[in-house]
Amino acid sequence: MTTDLAGLETEFLGRIAAAPDTAALEAVRLDALGKSGVISGLLKSLGGMTPDERKVQGPALNGLRDRVATALADRKAALESAELDAKLAAGRLDLSLPAPPRRRGAVHPTMQVMDEMIAIFAEMGFALAEGPDIEDDFHNFTALNFPPKHPAREMHDTFFLRPGPDGSAKLLRTHTSPVQVRTMQKTNTPPGASWIAAGQNPPIRIISPGRTYRMDSDATHTPMFHQIEGLVIDRNIHMGHLKWTLDQFIARFFELESVVTRFRPHHFPFTEPSAEMDVQCDTSGGEVKIGQGAEWSEIVGCGMVHPNVLRNCGIDPDQWQGFAFGFGVDRLGRLKYGMPDLRDMFASDNRWLAHYGFSAFAAPNPASGLS
Ligand code: PHE
Repeated sequence: MTTDLAGLETEFLGRIAAAPDTAALEAVRLDALGKSGVISGLLKSLGGMTPDERKVQGPALNGLRDRVATALADRKAALESAELDAKLAAGRLDLSLPAPPRRRGAVHPTMQVMDEMIAIFAEMGFALAEGPDIEDDFHNFTALNFPPKHPAREMHDTFFLRPGPDGSAKLLRTHTSPVQVRTMQKTNTPPGASWIAAGQNPPIRIISPGRTYRMDSDATHTPMFHQIEGLVIDRNIHMGHLKWTLDQFIARFFELESVVTRFRPHHFPFTEPSAEMDVQCDTSGGEVKIGQGAEWSEIVGCGMVHPNVLRNCGIDPDQWQGFAFGFGVDRLGRLKYGMPDLRDMFASDNRWLAHYGFSAFAAPNPASGLS
């Protein structure tokens, strides 16, 4: 049987050229040169030929095999590179696309202001004291010389919790002044309760920052707000010390050389005399400028600690005197950084925070003055 080698070659070269992908090409290779491929079969048949036949058929078949193998290799290389190009084109990484904006957090203005205040008072030698947000009547009112059933208790618009079995209701502290009481009552520190000010004997020089609560909501009041209380108890303390401390603080806080302040008589049950301190300001340009102008902005309640408060906390008022003050932190921040409405501070609006928030890296280190 003679085989039409030229016809076979045309057929295989045609199929190789037409193979659409490497898988189809592999099928052609198996048909031609695989174990039971046509050309492999013909090459095997050489063994059964006469020497003369082999002389003719041998070179012819080897030539056919080589040409088909070369065509297969060439086509394979071409198909592989086309397939790679297609893959690269499909999965291309488009480096020209702008990266999505990175979400960056900000320090809440209240926390920034709190840190600024703590840093200044720490440098003046005040230690930090804290107390619980949920207080009892004694620490929030009675020990602070609010008479029982006195309307002064109502002036704070207190949030009361449901009364316990004994009929007494806990409350959300209306000011940070109960921390004064907890600090002066040195017997009142349960072991392990680190959030409670450690009680101590005089001399005492503490500030106590924290959340406070009153039923109140308008542009300058929010039901939850922040205060920093200050308390100094020592011998021979008088109003002059109080005034100097607050003046120093205000100048540092508002970054002014000096400030003009005034004390207005006021009433707090726990201080006598009591005052509110105002700072000179100018609101005529639409924004508040501290330290200039002809107006006054109320900034802090203060006074000399009432002898009854000292007595209620086991301190002899004939030996020790002191002063106390209570700042509204959010309100102070509003004056310094100019937020129009206090309620926005706690509305959890990220746009507001992005605008008024502070970079975490710029925040003062409150520990810096606490050496
Ligand atoms: N506790 C007072 C308030 O919240 C502020 C204050 C503190 C006044 C200490 C005098 C002394 O209004």
